[in-house]
Amino acid sequence: MPDRQTVLLLGATGRTGGRVLEQLLGRGLSVRAIVRSATRLPAKSAGNPNLTVIEASLLSLSDEELQRHLRGCDAVVSCLGHVINLRGIFGAPRDLVARATERLCRAVEALRPAAPVRFVLMSSVSVNRPGGLDTRRGRGERAFLWLLRGVLPPAQDNQRAADFLLQQIGTGNPHVQWAAVRPDSLLEGDVTAYTLHEGLVNSLSAPGSSNMANVAHFMCELVTDPKAWERWAGKLPVIVNAEK
Ligand SMILES: NC(=O)c1ccc[n+]([C@@H]2O[C@H](COP(=O)([O-])OP(=O)(O)OC[C@H]3O[C@@H](n4cnc5c(N)ncnc54)[C@H](OP(=O)(O)O)[C@@H]3O)[C@@H](O)[C@H]2O)c1
Repeated sequence: MPDRQTVLLLGATGRTGGRVLEQLLGRGLSVRAIVRSATRLPAKSAGNPNLTVIEASLLSLSDEELQRHLRGCDAVVSCLGHVINLRGIFGAPRDLVARATERLCRAVEALRPAAPVRFVLMSSVSVNRPGGLDTRRGRGERAFLWLLRGVLPPAQDNQRAADFLLQQIGTGNPHVQWAAVRPDSLLEGDVTAYTLHEGLVNSLSAPGSSNMANVAHFMCELVTDPKAWERWAGKLPVIVNAEK
């Protein structure tokens, strides 16, 4: 059993995913990154011997190829998100996050790993935690989000990915355990103090903020710290910057 943990990272060329990549490598983990273009990876990670880059169109990979890349991984971190332009928001694949989540989880299950693989998903505070477990949103906010999911495919996609984890994978799966991290408005900046919450702490009309570096830090903690994992597995933690 190798000592060094191995993580499969999706979205490593993105704003948050790039920070996750740098922080995972900084902690000495091995990272396999599936990216569309290696030229968009953070310059600092180039040539790192613990980084394996797989240049491929994620959703075009066959189940067998996905399983090959997942074999031996302790965790999967997904920071996938739709590119914020007309093509990214309204073009295919509209179900990028949900389809990647489902295919990766099913591929892990097919591998039947000896210990459960941790799946850490970057989600959003626009995602509802079903069962009335979130602080109840006001009627106006619920109507707005309902409309948003109908009009904006990425909003629906994020909800579907979380619903899949909650409803299809659940908390008793012997092969996959998961946590869906819900940041508020993303900000630049370094790692600072942040707080974690089971439910929502801000409203859409008065949003909080979450440094991408803090989101990346928490995602890395989920991968490396057994106590953090025990606390948040099977949950949708909200992460916000601590008040100054
Ligand atoms: N913006 C906010 O305030 C906010 C707040 C909370 C949560 N979120 C959620 O957080 C997530 C990540 O946000 P971010 O701003 O860090 O993302 P980002 O910078 O836009 O990065 C998105 C990543 O997804 C990849 N990607 C996009 N389309 C793809 C496709 N068709 N196939 C394969 N990879 C693809 C991109 O790869 P390329 O480099 O190849 O394009 C990139 O690596 C999103 O799901 C977003 O909804 C955002």
